[in-house]
Amino acid sequence: MIYQIRPVIGDKAKKKLIQYIKKDNWITEHKVTYDFEKSFAKFTNSKYCIAFPNGTITMSSILACLNLKKKDEILVSNYTMVATANAARFFNFKVKLVDISNKDLCMCPNDLIRKINKNTRVVIYTQMNGRLGQINKIKKICKENSIHLIEDSAHAIGTYNSKKHVGNAGIASSYSFSMPKLITMGQGGAITTNNLNLSKKLRLFKNFGRSKEGNDIHDFLGYNFRITDMQSVIALEQLKTIKSRIKIKKKIFKFYQNKLKENKSIQIFDIKKNETPWSVDIYSDKIETIRKKLLANNIYTRYVYPPLNTQKIYNNFKNLPVSNNYCTKGLWLPSSLDLKKKEIEKICKIINRATN
Ligand SMILES: Cc1ncc(COP(=O)(O)O)c(C=O)c1O
Repeated sequence: MIYQIRPVIGDKAKKKLIQYIKKDNWITEHKVTYDFEKSFAKFTNSKYCIAFPNGTITMSSILACLNLKKKDEILVSNYTMVATANAARFFNFKVKLVDISNKDLCMCPNDLIRKINKNTRVVIYTQMNGRLGQINKIKKICKENSIHLIEDSAHAIGTYNSKKHVGNAGIASSYSFSMPKLITMGQGGAITTNNLNLSKKLRLFKNFGRSKEGNDIHDFLGYNFRITDMQSVIALEQLKTIKSRIKIKKKIFKFYQNKLKENKSIQIFDIKKNETPWSVDIYSDKIETIRKKLLANNIYTRYVYPPLNTQKIYNNFKNLPVSNNYCTKGLWLPSSLDLKKKEIEKICKIINRATN
C-alpha cells in the first residue's frame, strides 16, 4: 500500500521524545516550545514566532488581534483549504472569495483589485502547494489600499521570496504542523511576525490574556491556545533536518514531473527553484480514471481542495472560473518523505497507461 502522504518524523525525534518522557518533565508548553519558536523564527527569517495548537486557530488569532470591526471584509483565495476562510467566519468577519491565476494557482492580483472595496481590511494569501505566486504584486496592492496582508504558509515551509523565507510580506504568517506537513506535530501551528506589538498581543491571547504563567491577572481577553513540549520535542528535531526534508520534496516533485512530462492529458504547474512543494499535484480531465487505476493497485491519492464556492457554506459566490476549472480536476499524488524512486516509477507507469 502506498499512502498519499504519511508522517515521517525520524528516529532521532522519536528517541528525543522517549528521553523527554523518561525525565520528569512538565509536559506542558515550556522551554522546548520556546526553543522551537526561536528556531522556527530564525529559519523563516522572522523576528517572532508564537506556537499554537493548529494552523486554523493561528489564523483566527491573528484576525482577533488586529482590532477589526464586524463590517470589515476579508478576502481569501477560492483555492485553499476551507480553514483559511473558516478562521475568519468563526469570528463573524465577512469573507469574500478571490479567483486564482492560471499561471501559478495562487490568488489572482487582477481579481483581487476587482474585489476590493471600502470595507476590505485584510487579504489572506495562500501559497498553494508551496508556490510563491504573485505575492509581490499582492503586497503592493495591499499597501496602496491600506489593507493588512496575512500569509497562509501552511504549504510553504521551504519556499523563498528572493533571499527571505515566505511569511515576511505582510503583518503575519500562519503555519500548520498537522500530520501531512513538512514538519509535523500531529496537530500544531505557529504564527510568525515582525511586528512586536502583534506578537505581544498574540502571546497574551493564547494564554488567557495573562502576562505570566501562574499570574491570574487578565487585562486582555484571551483563550488557552498553548501546546505541549512533547509536540515541540519532535518538531524541533524535524526542524534540524529541514534542509534534507526540503531537498527530498523537491526531488520527488521533479521525478514525477519528468516521468509524466510526455503525458498530454496531464498538466503540472511548475515548482521553481525557490519553492518547496508540500505534495505533488496534477490536473487532468481524466483524474477519475487515474484515481481508480491507482486505487486498484493499493495506491492512494486525494482530490485537491474543491473550490470554496462549491461548498454549501460559501456557495453564494459566483464567477470564479479559473479555480472552478482547476480545483475540480486536480489530484494529489503520493508524496511522503520516504516515498521510493521505484514507487514513483510504478505510479507514473500506471498513470501513463491509464490515460493513453
Ligand atoms: C492552506 C491551509 N491552511 C490552513 C490549514 C489548516 O491547518 P490545520 O490543519 O493545522 O488547522 C491547512 C491544513 O491542511 C491548509 O492546508
